[in-house]
Amino acid sequence: MSEPQTTTPYDQIGGQPAIAAVVDRFYDLMDTDPAYAELRAMHAADLAPMRTSLTGFLTGWAGGPRDWFEANPGKCMMSMHAGFPITAETARQWVEAMGRAFADHDLADHPVGKLMNEQFAMMAGGMVRTATMAG
Ligand code: HEM
Repeated sequence: MSEPQTTTPYDQIGGQPAIAAVVDRFYDLMDTDPAYAELRAMHAADLAPMRTSLTGFLTGWAGGPRDWFEANPGKCMMSMHAGFPITAETARQWVEAMGRAFADHDLADHPVGKLMNEQFAMMAGGMVRTATMAG
């Protein structure tokens, strides 16, 4: 009898070090590349808390330790972002910068990397619609 499949996407992509590295690259790009100036302007001056929070969220979301979810009970990404004035352009910048961050760590063609970026694009699209509906 074969062993049950227990490997999570989190494990497959390289665990916490890989996720933290991608998130750091994402915020470095947002912080330094003028192509993301509009997206950067929506964020607080200090990106350090965001680096910690997004790494924690993605860790639990991908099947790793759920500390972020335990520290933020009931927090919904879509609802949380409904308060931000997210346009199609800033959503596009988010998805593009994240795609580049995965590529810069050679994870753009990784099956889990591809899946995560597809999901990000869907979430970002939903965030634009939510922001539009919220007026
Ligand atoms: C559609 C494009 C997006 C825009 C424009 C955007 C913008 C923002 C902004 C302005 C903040 C608050 C930043 C601050 O207080 O300095 C934020 C927080 C956050 N965003 Fe996004 N976001 C987007 C998509 C996403 C997606 C797709 C995810 C998840 C995959 C995500 C995860 C987070 C997390 C985890 C936080 C921090 C939550 C917290 O600790 O309170 N965002 N986002």
